[in-house]
Amino acid sequence: MADLEGLKVEKNYHLSEPFAADGNFHVKGAANLDWGMKKRLSSIFNPTSGNTVMFAFDHGYFMGSVSGLERIDLLLPKLMPHIDVLMGTRGALRTSVKPGFRKGVALRVSSGSSMLNDDLSHEVVAVDIEDAIRMDVDCMAVQVFIGAEGQLESIDNLSKVINMGSRYSIPTLGVVAVGKNMERTDQYFKLATRIIAELGANIVKTYYCDKFDELVAACPVPIVVAGGKKLAEKEALEMAYQSIQGGARGLDMGRNIFQSYHPAEMAESIGKIVHERFTGKEAWEFYRDKTK
Ligand code: 5RP
Repeated sequence: MADLEGLKVEKNYHLSEPFAADGNFHVKGAANLDWGMKKRLSSIFNPTSGNTVMFAFDHGYFMGSVSGLERIDLLLPKLMPHIDVLMGTRGALRTSVKPGFRKGVALRVSSGSSMLNDDLSHEVVAVDIEDAIRMDVDCMAVQVFIGAEGQLESIDNLSKVINMGSRYSIPTLGVVAVGKNMERTDQYFKLATRIIAELGANIVKTYYCDKFDELVAACPVPIVVAGGKKLAEKEALEMAYQSIQGGARGLDMGRNIFQSYHPAEMAESIGKIVHERFTGKEAWEFYRDKTK
């Protein structure tokens, strides 16, 4: 075993050391990008807190009119004061959002399956770069299925979008997908997030997991955390807090906001954690007082 001599096998995430290549820009891994990229990333990540509250309402692209999103035209105006970024499809954005609103936009550009399919991992890039430019979006979101049947297609989709986005200074958000039969371990999320960042995505969306601080340390771009299935509000706020404590630069929640009985208050409470450093308990008390 001579060739194993001197081989480092233990990983060391240097958790006490901050990211060393930030320069003086507030978005991780973006110090060397050009002005247009930085401008768009600054519409997503608040330059003061460095963080973001994204509202994911792109579920209709494969789930149709999911509960809570039947009338996005009525829901969005209530949420708008409490969020930084809308993450949606071009159909939802163009039809139901007034173009004069002053928030960031994360445009979902991959699609190709529906709830009727067992395997959701086969997708294509469904939006032309010209349309993303016309809509003046702040990033393009691509779902990435690592370890699934459609891995090659989704890596191809991600790479195409990164290539096109780089041409026009539009950042790419890589979204870690969790299919029915896919693992949800920290090893899996660490693998998927690092692959997505290495392929050139500027932001990675994933789920909260064990050893989340290690996942964050090993990912050279900002992590935003998905909400996942609806939890009790107290639990969802605690998960949001743990995510920010672990180094996430934001939340990109859907169902935990729009399936709450009080979506606006829930979004506002998440904002308290993300931008004002509330603990999960403080945010829960804030939510409870607001909804009494
Ligand atoms: C997966 C997504 C969705 O936007 C994501 O699932 C967020 O929604 P939720 O918080 O309800 O899980 O990116 O395609």
